[in-house]
Amino acid sequence: MRVAVVGAGGREHALAWKCAQEVGPDNVYVVPGNAGTESVGRNVSIAPSDSDSLVQFADQQAIDLLIVGPEGPLAAGLADRFPGKRTKVFGPGAAAARLESSKAWAKSFMHRHGVATGRSSVIEAGTDVPVCLREYPDGVVIKYDGLAAGKGVIVCDSAEAGLAAVARARAAWGAAAHLVAEERLFGDEVSLIGVTDGRSIRLLHPAQDHKQLHDGDQGPNTGGMGAYCPVPRLTAAALSSIERTIVAPTMDGLQRDGLAYCGALYFGLMITDDGPRLLEYNVRFGDPETQVLVPALADSLSDLLWSCCCHTAHEQVVSMRPGFFVDVVLASAGYPDAPVTGVPVIDAGPDQPDALVFHAGVVRSGGHLMTAGGRVLNVVGHGVTLDAAIARAYARCSHICFEGMQFRRDIGRRAWVTA
Ligand code: AMP
Ligand code: GLY
Repeated sequence: MRVAVVGAGGREHALAWKCAQEVGPDNVYVVPGNAGTESVGRNVSIAPSDSDSLVQFADQQAIDLLIVGPEGPLAAGLADRFPGKRTKVFGPGAAAARLESSKAWAKSFMHRHGVATGRSSVIEAGTDVPVCLREYPDGVVIKYDGLAAGKGVIVCDSAEAGLAAVARARAAWGAAAHLVAEERLFGDEVSLIGVTDGRSIRLLHPAQDHKQLHDGDQGPNTGGMGAYCPVPRLTAAALSSIERTIVAPTMDGLQRDGLAYCGALYFGLMITDDGPRLLEYNVRFGDPETQVLVPALADSLSDLLWSCCCHTAHEQVVSMRPGFFVDVVLASAGYPDAPVTGVPVIDAGPDQPDALVFHAGVVRSGGHLMTAGGRVLNVVGHGVTLDAAIARAYARCSHICFEGMQFRRDIGRRAWVTA
């Protein structure tokens, strides 16, 4: 099988690393990739947004499986460009990608199909905003109705704060921008990712992301400063409730709406006192969750994703390796607002099977590794216990340095904190 992974982050390095073990590095391409993906496959310098060149490349290189990492190309319809071609795309077409690219559409899908989620309303140009926000006395979340690279959500603790948030959102996105007002929910956040052919879904381990920059969930929101899996506090009963009230109605909803879906489906969940609630869908693998889920997968990733493309996901049994996986993200100075790049990266650590390094914003220049983005490296530790996995990850981090390197010291510790 010849595989191409679209994207340039730590998620794509992890996906390509696993596929390379299964189909051989000569059969793996990463488009455009980064300094790390060079060692597990071949980097191809095409922008993920350039769908014409991607189609041409896939034809020329006889790619069988094209795995799309980021949401942008999916929302733009990359997967719709391949009907009748040899290449099968793991990632949904533009119609189903609206589950991520339009918050208003995703909420209407959830409400229409009985998916457990918070109450919500759409705010448009003519909406009486103060009246609308009266519906949410315990707090409201204002969301921009489009792809916003993680910057489109404002969590407010009162209707008054909600009014100010609507004003801020309109200033940022335009007075006519559609916004979603959603009931503020309280609890523990969990990411659950499955791979699906649109009929059957195969769930991977539940994971937790760490969104804020600083320890103790303080500081600004980021793309994710680390993740771990599985989540010991998520009981079997909670997981079956998620499957019953969120995952199953979603799969039924896709069928009823006639939406074809081959790809990863990410459920961003809040575990509240009243049960699990869906905050958002992503139509792709999460980053940094993928960096822990892929090493945790005992089976062949390429076979699993291929089966989704061939509508045989129901025949697959997904088994995960025992133990825990912890990913510590090493970020540039100034991240997330204004990352400083072009700084040399020194990694004096040994290669170890239980402490992996997945590259993200890193390029190779004149034989040296240089920072090239906000999130630079992902260091993933594996251990029989969560403590051991955390210790392995941080021990490996201690061999890496670059000027201004920022990272959290408490990745995985949330497992013991009561929300
Ligand atoms: P989203 O893109 O919808 O997942 O929102 C990004 C982040 O905002 C989530 O990871 C949560 O931390 C927070 N958030 C979103 N919706 C809600 C909600 N209804 N209640 C509380 N927090 C929320
Ligand atoms: N980890 C959250 C995301 O990938 O959007």
